Amino acid sequence: MQPFSNMKTGFVSAIKKRIFADELTKLRVKHDLWYNAFEKQDGNKVWLDGKKYLMLSSNDYLGLGYDPRVKEAARQVLDVWGTSPTGSRFANGSRYYHREIEEQLADFLGKEACHVHSAGYLSCVASVSCFVGKGDVVLIDRNVHSSLWEGVRLSMASIEKFGHNSPASLEEELSFVKADRKKMIVTEGVYSMEGHVCPLDKFVEIGQRHDCFIVLDDAHGFGVMGSHGRGTAEHFGVQDSVDIICGSFSKSLASTGGFVAGDQEVIDFLRTYSKQTIFSAAINPTQVAIAGKALEIHRQEPGHLERLWKNTRRYHALLSDLGLDYWDSQTPAVPIVAGNKERAYFFAERLKEKGVYANLIIPPGVPPGKDLIRTAMSASFSEDDMQRIEEAVTHASKALR
Ligand SMILES: Cc1ncc(COP(=O)(O)O)c(C=O)c1O
Repeated sequence: MQPFSNMKTGFVSAIKKRIFADELTKLRVKHDLWYNAFEKQDGNKVWLDGKKYLMLSSNDYLGLGYDPRVKEAARQVLDVWGTSPTGSRFANGSRYYHREIEEQLADFLGKEACHVHSAGYLSCVASVSCFVGKGDVVLIDRNVHSSLWEGVRLSMASIEKFGHNSPASLEEELSFVKADRKKMIVTEGVYSMEGHVCPLDKFVEIGQRHDCFIVLDDAHGFGVMGSHGRGTAEHFGVQDSVDIICGSFSKSLASTGGFVAGDQEVIDFLRTYSKQTIFSAAINPTQVAIAGKALEIHRQEPGHLERLWKNTRRYHALLSDLGLDYWDSQTPAVPIVAGNKERAYFFAERLKEKGVYANLIIPPGVPPGKDLIRTAMSASFSEDDMQRIEEAVTHASKALR
């Protein structure tokens, strides 16, 4: 038998081998670039190594993260509820403020009920994993977020991948599945890396014909899509036909946490059987107060959504004029595809020269050859900010040629 100490040496050398697999990764690890820790932040500006940058990769689509009313809501709630519920909702952790935001979200999304978690990741894993099991079939868009893949794998259901955003491919996969099997379709509303909108109306039509349960992760569509910013289901007018809408507070709601919304019995089932729901502490009061206030402002002040889309249209036009590949993004989530990691790194560094910061995304975050700079529009960008973005992207684009 192999002694434990040798086993450990084996683990460590395997880890080192993977970390130092290539030059760029080596460089990033050496200079601690994987997890850039900004020294300071003021609205959409951040400071790194003493230099100020405009943040072009934030998911604060509606720009509410620095709204004084949202910050005040967070401050006030601490006096009332303390810092943490210190337990699972199932045990001692459930509070009135959880119920309140769940009712508000259910109402906003046109669903009977909702459950909130301390992270969108938990909400998305739970939305898939507890509703299917061995013998069931999950039809899943091949580009969905890692949380949804995690959910399917945990469920032990069979996995059938269909082509990204392809109704024809979904239909074809379904034709191989026996009619009497329990079937779930899993898709995102807006793809965070690509900026694509899923053809949800077509998926719903196919799903209904084949008696499928439909799960929509609308982390990047919530607050962004639809005439009232209710999300991708509102955009396509299919809110009633999607069984579960899950998502995150960390994008349009300027907080952290996540939600699952659906029929009452669906949410009751989740509360009874989902491990992510039962065995994890409840979301804390500040996260909820921030999300609640941001939701209230979003509902009352359509100007934030309008500004977001005005900035988005202007940004798409700029990228198009410069001949940059932005993967046909239709939304405020906008990639600039560079094609390999060296070019992506070069582009991001040129943006920094002009005071703009954006994330570099390389495989496995994206498919090989799609190495990109992940940028995002926000309602918080002023005229000055937009001009700085235009100048920086033009500079980087010219340097790359
Ligand atoms: C599509 C999608 N789903 C789920 C999540 C997880 O949300 P959270 O960051 O709140 O855990 C994310 C966040 O990156 C996401 O982009």
